[in-house]
Amino acid sequence: MQTILITGATSGIGLALSQIYHKQGANLILVGRRPIEALSDPVFTPEVYCQADLAQPDCHLTIDQWLTEQAIDKIDLVIHNAGIGWVGSTEEHSPAEIVEMIQVNLKAPIAITHQLFKRLERASGKVAFVSSVVSQLPLSKFGVYVASKAALDGFARSLAVEWNGRVQVQVLHPGATNTAMHEKVGTDQAVYSKYPSAESVAQKMERSILRNNRHVAIGFGNKIMRGLSLTIPRLLDLGMRQPPSLVMHPQERNRLKPHVVITGGADGIGAAVAQRYGITGQLVTVLDIDKERGHKLIDHLGDGATFLSVDLSQPESIEQAVDQLLELPPITTLVNNAGISAAGRFEFLELDRMLKVIDINLTGAILLTTRLLAEGKLMTGHQQVYLSSLSKYVGYPGAAVYSASKDGLAAFARTMQTAALADGRTTTVFPGPTRTAHARRYSPDNSREEQRMPPEAVAEAIFKGAQAKRRLVFPGAGAKVFAVFGRLAPRLAERAMKRTIYDKL
Ligand SMILES: NC(=O)c1ccc[n+]([C@@H]2O[C@H](COP(=O)([O-])OP(=O)(O)OC[C@H]3O[C@@H](n4cnc5c(N)ncnc54)[C@H](OP(=O)(O)O)[C@@H]3O)[C@@H](O)[C@H]2O)c1
Repeated sequence: MQTILITGATSGIGLALSQIYHKQGANLILVGRRPIEALSDPVFTPEVYCQADLAQPDCHLTIDQWLTEQAIDKIDLVIHNAGIGWVGSTEEHSPAEIVEMIQVNLKAPIAITHQLFKRLERASGKVAFVSSVVSQLPLSKFGVYVASKAALDGFARSLAVEWNGRVQVQVLHPGATNTAMHEKVGTDQAVYSKYPSAESVAQKMERSILRNNRHVAIGFGNKIMRGLSLTIPRLLDLGMRQPPSLVMHPQERNRLKPHVVITGGADGIGAAVAQRYGITGQLVTVLDIDKERGHKLIDHLGDGATFLSVDLSQPESIEQAVDQLLELPPITTLVNNAGISAAGRFEFLELDRMLKVIDINLTGAILLTTRLLAEGKLMTGHQQVYLSSLSKYVGYPGAAVYSASKDGLAAFARTMQTAALADGRTTTVFPGPTRTAHARRYSPDNSREEQRMPPEAVAEAIFKGAQAKRRLVFPGAGAKVFAVFGRLAPRLAERAMKRTIYDKL
């Protein structure tokens, strides 16, 4: 008899899945945030129900403790189904809601997967992540939701390579379903009542879980939509683009000096970008946690350069930086460059270190951007630049959570591009290995240091790409070739990455 753990089991698709597996006689572990007394369905009994709020950072420990108390040391299937949605313009999304969405939809599944590894391995089990068909769509009204689900896809992609032969990894992509999620986000009932029922979607998901396909779109229409989103993304971008809105009079714009803000600008690619913009005479503001290097760079850049100290892993620190930015001229270019990594085999890496990667690389960038938009600080015609990674195309076994953060960031950038907020544009950059302290810190052996691209060359590509308002920038011929290789032969690219990185860890 299978032991199956389902998160978000108390409603919608999760409840329907729980009922299906209950009828099959599986040993269930049903995870929900509500007390059992509030649940009326007979599937919920004290023996199977584990109360854990996935919005809490220690939710994986609560689940672990419950499993230990029940003496459950093997799990055949974990279905990461819990999720929350949100609809509206991204800048209306409050910081607390953004933090909660990334916690529940992304950080909790990562943390629970990490905690349950041994139990899964003992059973040669399977982890199924419930993503969404929208994870590959540029839907501007769901920017953070899309980013959280795209990040889950990116995480699963690299984890599947890492855990190959030990624990199976699968991603399910349901489309719009008639569940309470739509009521919770305030969608009109007349709209969501037309969607397929949770029961019919759960039945298809149960059948898909029996198969070995890594990604499964649930339902025929969603298979077509996912196929289109992967093969003709540019056409979808154009089709979904919102009309631009003007927030600042063009004449006023012409009188103002361009102002570029760069996160993580004290070192590496960020510092090279700051210098590249600096020589054009633009105002440059560098945000970084490293005060010493930051001030040194500003002294070097001279008049018109400002340094602001910020810890992007802390929402309060971002808030303080935004307050300081409000005192400076309007921003013409925002470069979301700051990033850290955590390299190693997923199950052996310290969880807190990995989750900090999400906080800085993804949540920090989203919070800063949305707060600046909400404050009207990004000028009409501004450029948002996002430093993603080539891992978006080739995967990154050995840094699965880093991969997640960079896939999520690219997806968020894409939704911002279609939102066309205040006539802004986005440029997403996919650098390959670059000769910086970042690469040296996380590489298994640094044997290819000489082949890495100098940060100045990456900065030049970013500067030119942003000036030309290019959507995607692949610095250097190598990055372009690898991106094409990854798109045309994803499994071969993953294998090459496994040999080059993971096998050496
Ligand atoms: N509905 C759609 O159109 C659709 C489309 C594509 C993908 N999905 C995905 O499918 C999954 C299931 O969604 P659904 O449509 O069935 O939505 P739902 O009816 O709202 O169910 C979501 C489940 O997640 C739980 N949950 C939310 N926050 C939680 C937290 N902090 N801690 C623990 N549990 C929490 C909910 O608990 P409560 O019952 O207490 O609220 C509920 O059991 C989600 O991952 C969603 O993103 C949904």
